[in-house]
Parts: sequence; C-alpha cells; structure tokens
Amino acid sequence: DWKMGSFVEETIKALREKIGDGKVLCALSGGVDSSVAAVLLSKAIGKQLTCVFVDHGLLRKNEGDEVEAVFGPNGPYELNFIRVNAQERYYKKLEGITEPENKRKIIGEEFIRVFEEEAKKIGAVDYLVQGTIYPDVIESGLGKSAVIKSHHNVGGLPSVVDFKEIIEPLRLLFKDEVRKAGLELGIPEYLVFRQPFPGPGLGIRIIGEVTAEKVRIVQEADAIYREEIAKAGLDRCVGQYFAALTNMRSVGVMGDGRTYDYAVALRAVNTSDFMTADVSEIPFSVLTHVANRIVNEVKGVNRVMYDLTSKPPGTIEFE
Ligand code: XMP
Repeated sequence: DWKMGSFVEETIKALREKIGDGKVLCALSGGVDSSVAAVLLSKAIGKQLTCVFVDHGLLRKNEGDEVEAVFGPNGPYELNFIRVNAQERYYKKLEGITEPENKRKIIGEEFIRVFEEEAKKIGAVDYLVQGTIYPDVIESGLGKSAVIKSHHNVGGLPSVVDFKEIIEPLRLLFKDEVRKAGLELGIPEYLVFRQPFPGPGLGIRIIGEVTAEKVRIVQEADAIYREEIAKAGLDRCVGQYFAALTNMRSVGVMGDGRTYDYAVALRAVNTSDFMTADVSEIPFSVLTHVANRIVNEVKGVNRVMYDLTSKPPGTIEFE
C-alpha cells in the first residue's frame, strides 16, 4: 500500500527532524499501538529511544518473553529496552484485594510507581511517546466521561515524568492503518494482529483476589483457548476472546477421586466499537475440545463454562 509506505517514511523523517539529538522515553505495553509507535521512533532515532516494558505478572502466557524477543537486545530493532520484572511486587500489593475497582486502581498506580522509578534512573528526557490513535483522540475530545470502570492505560504518566513534549506519531491513524504501518515496519504478525488486551491484564480476568496460582491457571487455560481458536481458523474472525477465572470452585470427579477445583469461563465476542458486543458463535465442537483440554491439562480446574452474555448488560471483561 503506497499510502502506508509514505506515511511510514514521512513520519520517520519528520520525527528525526523534530527530535534532533533529544532523548525519548516510551512506555511499551506490547500492544499494537505502543509497538508501532516504538518501532517508528526506533527507525528514526535508534538508541536515543528508551522503551520501558513493565511485566506486572498479569500478562498472558509467554507474553513478556515475546515482547522482549522483538524489542530486546536480541531483536531486530535499535533502541534501549528495559524490562522491569515487577511480578512479585504486584502480587504483594494485590494480596487480599477483592474489590474490582480497588484492584484496577492498585494495578494502575503501581504501574506509575514502577515507571517513575525507571524514568528517574534514565534521567532527563526530552520527549515522551504515546501510542494514541485517532479513535482515542476523538473519545477524549468528546469528553467521554461515564466511568463504568476506570480504564488503565498510560494516561497518568505525563504528570510523573519530566519532559518537554508528548509525541503521538499515530494520532491520525485508525486501528487498521496502525496495523498496516506495523506490517510495513516488519513487526511480526502476532504482534500486529494481537487482540486488545487491557492495561490491568489478567487482573480483571480473575474474579476476586489475584494470586500467582490463579494467574498460572488463567494463563494456561487462555493459552489453550487461543491455540485452538487459531487452529480452527477463527482467530481473525472473533473480535476478542479469552479465558477468565471465576472465583467459584465446585465438586468434580477425576479417575476415582473427588475434586474441588476452579471453574474457568471462556468468553468470545464480536464488536465494532467495544461499547456493545455480541457473543460469538464459536462452533460447539471447538468449545468442547477446548474444555476437555483445559480440564485435562490445567491443574486446579475441573469445570469450563462459556459466557453467553452480550454487552450490555455484561461487560467484555469480568471486572
Ligand atoms: P469492557 O470490559 O469495559 O471492555 O466491556 C471494553 C474493551 O476495553 C478493554 N478494557 C480495557 N482496556 N484498560 C484498557 O486498556 C482497561 O482498564 C480496560 N478495561 C477494559 C477490554 O479488553 C475491551 O476490549
């Protein structure tokens, strides 16, 4: 696509001119938007860019390593990459916390603290990069205010980091254009076509208290679900799908023993704007296959359920 090609080229050129020999800091989540923004900057200014990636222990299975493989020192791009392994720190903070908004708040605040500490180590930066895209610009312009759930992105950052200016290289692009730019830049497809993953991560896909054990369960169940959805060729047809861990345990039977284990919920929705969503009609054979694999392969789970709720009244995430 010649248009995307010229966007990429022109943006890199413009960034280079604007930044000069300035220092740039980027909070990298591994999502499409921040990844494409980071690569544009990397192509423009190389090691003048530092990306901080916070692994809060609430990422999907292997996700931290996948991000590191692309952006870390063994990856194809030139930049400074800092991975902060903050898992233990987050689990500690989340101990005993069960109220959804409290969990969101703690996860969001802890992100700011961790980022602030890293920014201090880096020292004075000139620019802060954000992966804001056009729909985000419109939403904040309209003053979208009804807070049903407090959304955690990196919105709180500007106030804790000293910098001259925010750079938002994607602010005129729609999501599909961001993806095109990403492919143009050689970013791997699994990152470019990643489905949305919320800032608070698995923290809002685990009902009730978050523990390392529950994170392991939901990561493994989700990895199986994703693998089977991809095998069935549905990964680009379904808008968003994931496994969540209900806070419910129930009686089951395994071999000739009684079990008392968790129930995993599978969710899959189609949506055009994330404000409303319909349940995806995943073939029953795929669902039962996923369910069988999960109960057989994931220790601590003896029941799998499919969420049939549209949004509204259900939300897409569980907390
Ligand atoms: P809900 O659960 O509100 O989700 O129906 C709508 C869409 O937003 C995503 N989501 C979030 N994204 N930070 C994010 O960056 C958040 O705190 C957050 N909460 C929900 C959710 O995955 C879905 O795509």
